[in-house]
Amino acid sequence: MSNTQNSTQAKSNQQVAIVTGASRGIGAAIARRLAQDGFTVVVNYAGSAREAEALVAEIEAAGGRAIPEQADVADPAAVARMFGAAEAAFGGVDVLVNNAGIMKLAKLADSDDALFDSQVAINLKGTFNTMREASRRLRNGGRVINLSSSVVGLYQPAYAVYAATKAGVEAMTHVMTKEMRGRNITVNVVAPGPTATALFLDGKPQEVIDNLARLAPLERLGAPEDIASAVAFLAGPDGAWVNGQTLRVNGGII
Ligand SMILES: NC(=O)c1ccc[n+]([C@@H]2O[C@H](COP(=O)([O-])OP(=O)(O)OC[C@H]3O[C@@H](n4cnc5c(N)ncnc54)[C@H](OP(=O)(O)O)[C@@H]3O)[C@@H](O)[C@H]2O)c1
Repeated sequence: MSNTQNSTQAKSNQQVAIVTGASRGIGAAIARRLAQDGFTVVVNYAGSAREAEALVAEIEAAGGRAIPEQADVADPAAVARMFGAAEAAFGGVDVLVNNAGIMKLAKLADSDDALFDSQVAINLKGTFNTMREASRRLRNGGRVINLSSSVVGLYQPAYAVYAATKAGVEAMTHVMTKEMRGRNITVNVVAPGPTATALFLDGKPQEVIDNLARLAPLERLGAPEDIASAVAFLAGPDGAWVNGQTLRVNGGII
């Protein structure tokens, strides 16, 4: 992807990125960073309309281009509509960042069906829904970047279902990489470690947070911007030769 375009150029010359779950947390940092790098950004969200609209306003105030787009990634029709809206507004889609996700922790013995179904619906089926659309609709030369987690590798207690959904995302990534042969589309995974967002922080006592922050040799939690930097690398010109890889971004926790 070229990062030299600016908002004065024709729409068809712009690189367009859809970032799912971009209203908050890591997704918002990714959207902000890709906009800084010259991408036109579709700021997807499920329920946080106000946050998504505020982020779009912030990007536009900084000279970038973005639109908010509501779509529950678990809903295939909504995902297809989102791609259609991006194509209608900007002529096509070049980059898909599958960031939307939820995490519900419980030991297997204590996990109910709703815990399983909701994580599979959003993390796994949601990523499938967007990857299917991207397989059909991404412009040649595009990029797909899927968010997994370093729990695929750490495998701590209580993370079974969450880790399983992310392992599934990693498996689909490798298959899609091969299916994109001939289209110059790369497909990669970014797998963060503990990162200071609501998903990680909510419901954890401070002592648990502090202990998890100390696990990595770099002895801190990740910031959303740390993850956005890795995504920007894979989406940008320097990432062109990286394909089918999982990049763990976690301060060395594993
Ligand atoms: N934070 C960590 O420690 C960590 C570590 C490893 C991996 N990750 C992964 O990184 C990604 C982002 O996590 P985060 O920490 O930034 O989470 P977060 O702060 O909870 O934000 C989640 C984002 O996903 C959106 N979202 C949730 N369900 C959605 C749905 N069905 N359709 C569309 N959007 C949906 C939310 O939008 P609404 O507010 O509109 O619902 C929100 O923008 C996730 O895939 C997560 O698994 C996070």
